[in-house]
Amino acid sequence: MTAQLSKKSEAWSARFSEPVSDLVKRYTASVFFDYRLAPFDIAGSLAHAEMLAHQGIISQQDHADVQRGMAQIQDEIAAGKFEWLLDLEDVHLNIEKRLTELVGDAGKRLHTGRSRNDQVATDIRLYLRAAIDDITTLLHQFRLALLDLAEQHAGTIMPGFTHMQVAQPVTFGHHILAYVEMFGRDTERMQDCRKRVNRLPLGAAALAGTTFPIDRQRVAKTLGFDDVCHNSLDAVSDRDFAIEFCAAAALLMTHISRMSEELVIWMSPRVGFIDIADRFCTGSSIMPQKKNPDVPELARGKTGRVNGHLVALLTLMKGQPLAYNKDNQEDKEPLFDTVDTVTDTLRIFADMAGGISVKAEAMRSAALQGYATATDLADYLVKKGLPFRDAHEAVARAVRACVDRGCDLADLTLTDLQVYSPLIAEDIFAVLTLEGSIAARDHVGGTAPAQVKKAIQRIRDQLA
Ligand code: ARG
Repeated sequence: MTAQLSKKSEAWSARFSEPVSDLVKRYTASVFFDYRLAPFDIAGSLAHAEMLAHQGIISQQDHADVQRGMAQIQDEIAAGKFEWLLDLEDVHLNIEKRLTELVGDAGKRLHTGRSRNDQVATDIRLYLRAAIDDITTLLHQFRLALLDLAEQHAGTIMPGFTHMQVAQPVTFGHHILAYVEMFGRDTERMQDCRKRVNRLPLGAAALAGTTFPIDRQRVAKTLGFDDVCHNSLDAVSDRDFAIEFCAAAALLMTHISRMSEELVIWMSPRVGFIDIADRFCTGSSIMPQKKNPDVPELARGKTGRVNGHLVALLTLMKGQPLAYNKDNQEDKEPLFDTVDTVTDTLRIFADMAGGISVKAEAMRSAALQGYATATDLADYLVKKGLPFRDAHEAVARAVRACVDRGCDLADLTLTDLQVYSPLIAEDIFAVLTLEGSIAARDHVGGTAPAQVKKAIQRIRDQLA
């Protein structure tokens, strides 16, 4: 979008004896970016005009004229023919001016009982509500794609890590379900934030309300708001709902970033657990052998900017006295960029989940290294009556011997093992297998394939 400078006069020019410089115009204008609010600005104006007419504050004819003019403006914007003017500062004044050109006095009456302060606060809430609904849908699709991946690999064994050291065997399905849980909480946070976004500021006017007999509940109902904002000063000045959204978005991206980090590690030839479909990777201009996981790397990087936007909005708000201050114009670019980044990222990740191929053999052989079943041996001894701390110590000595010999616990003979505890018997070998280890963790939240399948079904039922 390009906004032009023109010779048209500003909306408040009668008060001023000299025009602002072109630099100041550019500095104070927001139309470069807030033109994106146009559909919401028009919806808000139509609801306001309908209420004004219903209350007898403007005539039915004025209302009809506003409707006609707005329909044409919508068409002009959709066709890319609407002329955005920098002199008119923002989306609100651009649309109002064009409306007045098209329908005359009815356009000038539209602003009765309203200010740009409550107008812009309403527009952002309408915009953000739609964005939250899109993000919720995308999270839903992404989680379904992850569930498919988890289901294919409910029994695929990989090493589970703590401190990036092999800890205990888990299934890849179970690992993926951890992210399904995180993105489930992200969805809840979005829904919770939506409740506080979905309240109507319009009617607060500049800051103190209006002298006209307006009906705020009527406007709220028309626009699908759950309620009105109950204090006019608060309605025009606080942006906590946007900050809350950015906090939820930053957490969401943090989860994306953690997953990205794992995808990058897993795809490294040194690890070789997965491959990601070519359409999400790029090559190197110099090294012909390279296939780089650019999408997860970029998502990890973009998390930084979303976190930054949260800090930007918090900082924007913290020094503002009541009520509206022009500072608030700076809320839009961080918010828009947060929405764009999260939306694009989720769209790509939902698709990419289907492009992950798992190298089950590599995962399995990694799980066989690193004494992943040492805890199982300790639990076995406890079940035979040894206190856990003593069992831990006995197994630690057995592992130490394996390290010296360069073998796994399962490679030791029964006689070797009995050196560490006479309680060990022939039935230990079933316990030391990877399959035995995962199958034994058979409770809600555990990695046993049967539990993974139950968890998948539980989440599928919730998403249905
Ligand atoms: N463009 C402004 C914003 O984004 C609209 C409200 C301006 N109000 C005012 N009194 N200057 O916040």
